[in-house]
Amino acid sequence: MKKVGLIFALEEELEETKKIFDNAKVHSIYNLKIYECKNDKTICFLVVSGMGKVNAARTTQVLIDFMNVDYILNVGVAGSISRDVKKCDIVIGNKLVQHDFDFTSADYEKGEIPNIGQYVYCDEELVKIAKTIKINTNIIFGVISSGDIFISDEKMGEKIHEKFDALCVEMEGASISQVCHLCNIPFLVIRAISDSAYEKDNHLGFEEFLEISSKRAAKFIEEFIDKI
Ligand code: ADE
Repeated sequence: MKKVGLIFALEEELEETKKIFDNAKVHSIYNLKIYECKNDKTICFLVVSGMGKVNAARTTQVLIDFMNVDYILNVGVAGSISRDVKKCDIVIGNKLVQHDFDFTSADYEKGEIPNIGQYVYCDEELVKIAKTIKINTNIIFGVISSGDIFISDEKMGEKIHEKFDALCVEMEGASISQVCHLCNIPFLVIRAISDSAYEKDNHLGFEEFLEISSKRAAKFIEEFIDKI
């Protein structure tokens, strides 16, 4: 049976996906509560990492080292930074970049990490499977950008969009992709849009849409997980 690790930043994001499984056994590792859920073909390990790149990176390493996962999925919400990407749309990352990594003083590109590169590519097979999923939601494939900043400034959103051709921003995906790349674990980032950097007070939109967008992401996972 394939083992799949699913990482969520927030409790609310995990809750919606946990509902698609019947029951769960709980593992406690350090401060992490890891829910082991089985279906016919896969064993899934669901865990809340907490927000931000460091929390997400260490949770990824814990799933790889303690649970021996074959795949990692990062699931949750994101803020749109493209006028073409609307609330509740799902964005699947084909590549990830850390918009807050800056070693440009040494002639590297913005977001370029010396031992990694500027972008980390999601697993091609998982992207291919994702393209076969048909649910009642707009699914868009493109660049996802991560950083330890909640983007609520229109100008900052526009800059990240232009610099990296990114569709949305969140705070974990690219660090998860970096750890998976270093450990040779196939991964995919799946984000439902909760807010837009181009709307006023988007943290309010984020709070309002957190549950409904997390439900969309869970619906995607329900269809996707059996196809891995
Ligand atoms: N996650 C959801 N919305 C976000 C935003 N606007 N910036 C960063 N992470 C987010």
